[in-house]
Amino acid sequence: MNNIKLGLTAIIVLFLGLQYSFIAQAQNISRNQTNNDTKKLNNMNSTNKFEFQALPYANDALEPFIDKLTLEIHYGKHHKAYYDNFIAAIKGTEMESMDMMHIFKNMSKFPMAVRNNGGGYFNHTFYWEGMKAQGGGSPTGKLSDAIAQSFTSFDEFKKQFSDAGKTRFGSGWAWLSIDDKGKLFISSTPNQDNPLMDLAEKKGTPLLVMDVWEHAYYLKYQNKRPDYIDAFWNVVNWAEVAKRYEKALN
Ligand SMILES: [Fe+2]
Repeated sequence: MNNIKLGLTAIIVLFLGLQYSFIAQAQNISRNQTNNDTKKLNNMNSTNKFEFQALPYANDALEPFIDKLTLEIHYGKHHKAYYDNFIAAIKGTEMESMDMMHIFKNMSKFPMAVRNNGGGYFNHTFYWEGMKAQGGGSPTGKLSDAIAQSFTSFDEFKKQFSDAGKTRFGSGWAWLSIDDKGKLFISSTPNQDNPLMDLAEKKGTPLLVMDVWEHAYYLKYQNKRPDYIDAFWNVVNWAEVAKRYEKALN
C-alpha cells in the first residue's frame, strides 16, 4: 500500500516538475520575444527620429519679405545638404542611437562634420518653425512680460536682437534663448553652432532664431543684410515662440 502511495507521489511530483519547466520555458520565449520587439521598436525610433521635415508652409508663403526662390533653395538645397551630411556623419556611430539634445550637450567630443551638419539640420528646422505667413507684430502674455523685464521694452529687444544679427561677422545666427535660471538672453553663434551645444559661449534653450548666412537673403537683398533683418520681423511666428517659452518654463 505504501509502495502505491510512494509511486503516486512520485508521478505527481514528476508531473508538476514537467509542468513548471514547460511554463518557465514558455515565459522565457515570451520574454525574449518582448525584448526583441522592444529592440526593434528602439531601432525604428533611432532611424526615424532624424527626419527631414516638410516646410510648415508653401515656398512663397513668406513673400514679399522672404522670396520664393530663396526659400526653395535655402530649404531644398542648403538645409537638405546639412541633413544628408549629418545622417552620413553619424552612420554606424554611437550618435545614431542618441537624441539630438544629447548630441548637442556632448558636441565637443564629436567630429566637426557632426557639429556643422547637426547644427545646420536642427537650426534650419527651428528657423522655419519660428516664422509664418502674416506673422510679425509682437508677443503677448508671459513672453511679452519677460521680454519687457529683460530688455526694458519690446523695441529695445528688437534692436538688440537685430544688432546681434548685423554684427555677426561672416555666417551665423542670432538667438533669443532662456538660460537655466529662467533668464532671457540674446546671443549670436558662428557657422552652424547653437546655444544648446556644450561649446557655445552662452548656453541656453533657444526660443527664436534668425539665419544671417548670405544664402538666407542674398538673392533678394544682396549685400544689404540689415534690410533682410528689418523684413524678418514681419514673419516671426510669436505664437510658436510663446509656446517654446512656456515649454522651457515647465
Ligand atoms: Fe541657412
